[in-house]
Amino acid sequence: TMYWIIWLIGGYLCGSVPFGLLIGRLKGVDVREHGSKNIGATNTGRVLGKKWGILCFLLDVLKGCVPVLGYGIWSGLSGGEDLSVLAQLMWLGIAVVAVCGHMFPVWLRFKGGKGVATGLGVLLGFWPILTVAGLIAAITWLVVVNMTAYVSLASVLAAGLLPAVSIGLTFAFGGSWQNAMVFGLLTGALAGAVIIKHRSNITRLKAGEENKVGWGLKGKK
Ligand code: G3P
Repeated sequence: TMYWIIWLIGGYLCGSVPFGLLIGRLKGVDVREHGSKNIGATNTGRVLGKKWGILCFLLDVLKGCVPVLGYGIWSGLSGGEDLSVLAQLMWLGIAVVAVCGHMFPVWLRFKGGKGVATGLGVLLGFWPILTVAGLIAAITWLVVVNMTAYVSLASVLAAGLLPAVSIGLTFAFGGSWQNAMVFGLLTGALAGAVIIKHRSNITRLKAGEENKVGWGLKGKK
């Protein structure tokens, strides 16, 4: 547990690196003053251009994936299907702190991002079951963005589907009820946090005032 606490602190610090803000700083722009004012990849791309948004997305995914995958390999949990509940909960804790780091970074007075890219990153780190769940969520996200050009709608829908997909996949991989419940708990908490962070987006979507991205079938020209 001593080592686990060190992993927890490291996971939080890793997740709290505000790549959107840092990329903006390199270009002399504070992304918190433009667009949706968010430090996430979507707003970084909106303010600085698509390629910077993609770079921010990849880095934000990585900072979620690295601590989870790292702990899984270090502790020998990665790759196993039927883990003890305590071992699994400890692994899940690393994911929670990494996403919390992104959503509530100590460096930015706890005003962070919405947890979509970092949330995907932590899922990808739980090889193998949640890796597949994360990929399914990512495909859902891409389809919705391409159909509607609303990134926030895609994020909320992908998050909302995640718990059911994760529970179903656990059984498909031969996991136990306990494992399914633990993964359901993590993805449910993750989805809840992501959706709460999208409150202002949901208000704009309802009012027909949400920003669109410039790609996909309905992308603004
Ligand atoms: O990942 C965040 C995205 O779903 C919405 O971002 O900047 O449009 O609020 P934004």
